[in-house]
Amino acid sequence: MRADYETLAKTIAALTSGETDEVALMATLACELHHADDRFDWTGFYRVTEPDLMKIGPYQGGHGCLVIPFSRGVCGAAARTQQTQLVADVEAFPGHIACSTSTRSEIVLPVFNKAGDVIGVLDIDSNQPDAFDQQDADQLAAILAATFGHL
Ligand code: SME
Repeated sequence: MRADYETLAKTIAALTSGETDEVALMATLACELHHADDRFDWTGFYRVTEPDLMKIGPYQGGHGCLVIPFSRGVCGAAARTQQTQLVADVEAFPGHIACSTSTRSEIVLPVFNKAGDVIGVLDIDSNQPDAFDQQDADQLAAILAATFGHL
């Protein structure tokens, strides 16, 4: 099934209300998002831990790379450009980091705090080609803003 973003946003808001710990919020989102949509085969966060570098955060799915510099992969591009990356075909993305050979497409969104700093990225990988569209980008960005935008 495809995520019912309206319900998902309400559930996440209720579950995370009053919480300000980034990892607790990321863990809750990774779980709720991952189980809400059949297209999502890997759902998780990379956290900015030092300038131009991210380390793995909470996730669901198979194991993910532990470290991603801003210069590498789709996740690095999202953090570097501060813009959502919608990749219909990972084979066609130069420098894509293949953690799982079954990944065909992905969406990666920057995660901003209240000050507008990028604190990490949300990476969702799919085994289906061209799995994500602008509606996913918009709805996921709204959920991220509601969850992390007050930190
Ligand atoms: N989608 C990523 C890497 C995959 S993971 O480590 C789960 C990228 O190319 O940025």
